[in-house]
Amino acid sequence: MEFDEVVIKRRSVRDYDASKEVTDEQLKELFELVKLSPSSYNLQPWEFIVVRDKENKKLLKACANNQQFVEDASATVIVLGSTNPLVHAEEISADRVKKGTMDEEKKKKFEENVKKIAENKPEAMLWTAKSTSLSIMTLMLAAENMGLATCPIGGFDDECIKKEFNIPEDYEIMMLITLGYKSEKQSERPKRYGYEDIVHLEKFGEK
Ligand SMILES: Cc1cc2nc3c(=O)[nH]c(=O)nc-3n(C[C@H](O)[C@H](O)[C@H](O)COP(=O)(O)O)c2cc1C
Repeated sequence: MEFDEVVIKRRSVRDYDASKEVTDEQLKELFELVKLSPSSYNLQPWEFIVVRDKENKKLLKACANNQQFVEDASATVIVLGSTNPLVHAEEISADRVKKGTMDEEKKKKFEENVKKIAENKPEAMLWTAKSTSLSIMTLMLAAENMGLATCPIGGFDDECIKKEFNIPEDYEIMMLITLGYKSEKQSERPKRYGYEDIVHLEKFGEK
């Protein structure tokens, strides 16, 4: 599919054919693209739990305001954001030093900056949300290109999901994304604001 067709065709789908499955091969293909998303300092604070088992989807639905399509979709992905930026810092800086894009001085500055983010919990939350959101968009567009429908879900009880899915303390649940085959004709696209409404040129308020 052409890129603009993928963007135009992607919609939030809430009616799924529960009989069709998303395979391991499809997941592999999808996440090989997701992993290429950009992230702050390339620290890739995202991890994903793919829920396909019927009983687990029921548990997840109960944690997600009983939104039925969480159970009907072939899979629902729990998108996790690590709120500890230090986890990958060592490996990622070593990789950059090896590839010649980071010298010792830059490495020191990088370590200082990452430490500063890690020490401030609200800042770390925002930091991980920024990068993780980009991986979510890659996931939705790549899925669309593979013929799979998605819906991002922000309506859930995060404590419930953390408990039911054994999620460690230094992860936050950023979003759920349903993944599957749509079963009905898509409803009309909800209103979008246009170019004039959303774009400012040079400074705020200048059109
Ligand atoms: C952060 C976020 C949270 C959302 N939460 C929900 C949700 O809990 N349930 C739902 O049905 N749709 C949810 N949506 C989907 C939006 O309703 C949908 O993207 C919007 O209405 C635009 O429609 P479209 O995606 O089909 O273009 C969410 C979308 C985003 C980005």
